[in-house]
Amino acid sequence: MAHPLISVKNLDLYFGAFHALKDVSVDFNAGELVGLVGDNGAGKTTLIRVLCGIHKPTKGEVWFDGTQVKEFHPKLAIDNGIETIQQSVGLCDNLSIARNFYLGREPVRKILGIPFLDFAKMRGESRKVIREFGLRDNVSADDEVERLSGGERQSVKIGRAVEFMNRVVIMDEPTNHLSVREREHVNELAVQLKEQGLLVIYITHDIFQVHKLADRIVIMENGEKVEDARTTDMTADELEEVIRQGGRKVEKRGAA
Ligand SMILES: Nc1ncnc2c1ncn2[C@@H]1O[C@H](COP(=O)(O)OP(=O)(O)OP(=O)(O)O)[C@@H](O)[C@H]1O
Ligand SMILES: [Mg+2]
Repeated sequence: MAHPLISVKNLDLYFGAFHALKDVSVDFNAGELVGLVGDNGAGKTTLIRVLCGIHKPTKGEVWFDGTQVKEFHPKLAIDNGIETIQQSVGLCDNLSIARNFYLGREPVRKILGIPFLDFAKMRGESRKVIREFGLRDNVSADDEVERLSGGERQSVKIGRAVEFMNRVVIMDEPTNHLSVREREHVNELAVQLKEQGLLVIYITHDIFQVHKLADRIVIMENGEKVEDARTTDMTADELEEVIRQGGRKVEKRGAA
């Protein structure tokens, strides 16, 4: 079988004396939607920040597509096609949808050898996304992101991830503060990304919501991975019980 897209092996991470990740080993495959759940402070965001090159692990290995990562720097995410979608960051409120779409990779057109931002291209491409990703009819590519609802903002980020052929989309609590309809829309988009062959890592506190979408659930507790199960093998109720027990049930099961 082909190797996993991302493989994390025996990862330890200390913030000073604080042991934030404890011997974490986990694989993530292309075309898979993995729910990463666990209580506040469990280490979910810290783990994905290692994958994005924001934190350097104290010990252990990270492999991308069969190659070991030797240097952890923020360019790691760009190099490996990782887009992170969080509720509150990633878009500039005072710029248009079109400009946000191309943030950091603006297309340039040369007129008499002088480079100009290619607004026509930015508008055209982002119009396509606005249509495909179900934003309201009265939203235009020239509108500032400030006036978009939470769900519409998420749609712009998700559209951007697809357009730029990313391979991994990490969603960190992507539906916080969203209405029921917006939440459903973002969840549908997450499933679409996975169906297009991307790896989707979906971080949430809501095991019941993510169980419906995910192929696999990974539970973290106190910096440790305490469960890693296919959603066909464990119900949401059973997984919630693992979270409630703080992973103790798993240790018992492992010892039996
Ligand atoms: N830069 C940092 N320096 C020191 N401690 C940190 C740092 N980042 C995270 N931590 C600590 O590491 C632990 C894990 O934090 P993390 O953000 O990964 O949790 P989480 O599982 O994402 O929680 P939540 O569900 O609340 O977002 C917490 O106790 C947090 O205070
Ligand atoms: Mg977090």
